[in-house]
Amino acid sequence: MSCLFPAFALTLPEAAAMVPATIRTVRGKRLAGDLRDRACVVTGAAGSLGLACVDAFLREGASVLLVDRDADALAAAAATLDDRDDSHAGRIAIVAADVADARETEAFLAEAVRRFGRLDVIVCNAGISGAIAPAQDYPEDVFDRVLAVNLKAPFLACKYGLPLMSDGGAIVMTASVVSVTSDPGIAAYAASKHGLIGLMRTVAKEAAPRRIRVNAVAPGPIDNGFQRDVETGLTKAIGRPAGAFLDGLIPMGRHGAANEVAEAILYLASDRASFTTGSVLMVDGGMHV
Ligand SMILES: NC(=O)c1ccc[n+]([C@@H]2O[C@H](COP(=O)([O-])OP(=O)(O)OC[C@H]3O[C@@H](n4cnc5c(N)ncnc54)[C@H](O)[C@@H]3O)[C@@H](O)[C@H]2O)c1
Repeated sequence: MSCLFPAFALTLPEAAAMVPATIRTVRGKRLAGDLRDRACVVTGAAGSLGLACVDAFLREGASVLLVDRDADALAAAAATLDDRDDSHAGRIAIVAADVADARETEAFLAEAVRRFGRLDVIVCNAGISGAIAPAQDYPEDVFDRVLAVNLKAPFLACKYGLPLMSDGGAIVMTASVVSVTSDPGIAAYAASKHGLIGLMRTVAKEAAPRRIRVNAVAPGPIDNGFQRDVETGLTKAIGRPAGAFLDGLIPMGRHGAANEVAEAILYLASDRASFTTGSVLMVDGGMHV
């Protein structure tokens, strides 16, 4: 086999020795990306992206504590997961909680450790969209709530979660394409998702000495209920169907699917991303470009 840089040509064993032990793939043994033996918390787990993420984590062998403020939806979500696969038995726990509440956050994080004996991964995914209105008309209480759920809650998860987490773990935050762009009418949502990137980068540097990686996924418009609600408001605001309008802004010409975001979260949560921290993984069909 030819090599452009013969001086750097390595034998296979030499190349393998350069790969961190945690991500070496050995036949019959633990594979890279496998979340087996990892204890994870996913917030907003009764929702579209959260549940898809839980599904992917369970598939990879993780134990998962699902957190959501909607207790009924949470119970229904857990029942679906239980029904889907016998191997999930004992690997799923649920806690109904408001992620914007510090005491409830401490409680669900402690519950993960009590239930699974450790905490390796936190996915800060719960989020709300708020109102669609120009800044001068934007309701102050809605602004405060959007910031509390989308930005303060991930801060609380870091503040109370990091002391409990195993070294070498991962935090993944669900940001948005509007973490790096914005549009009229979404002052609170865009501010919260921009702020989330600042939080993520800061904590990434703080946690790196413990080999805890902190990253964000930034989805574009996803084909789900959350986005449909947003588009109902947007359609009124722009006077034409917002779904088709947004597809026109996405180079790939379509909305994403929840599982496409879940696979990106899985990647960042796993050892496959062992040298990736402080980064924003865009999952937006190129919308931000
Ligand atoms: N759907 C999209 O197009 C899209 C695009 C970019 C980013 N996002 C982000 O993805 C994340 C997940 O959104 P989704 O599309 O799955 O929406 P979703 O509404 O289906 O799920 C969000 C979940 O969060 C829960 N939640 C809201 N507030 C909470 C609180 N205070 N405490 C606990 N749980 C709470 C809700 O009950 C819901 O189950 C959000 O952070 C959202 O901002 C979504």
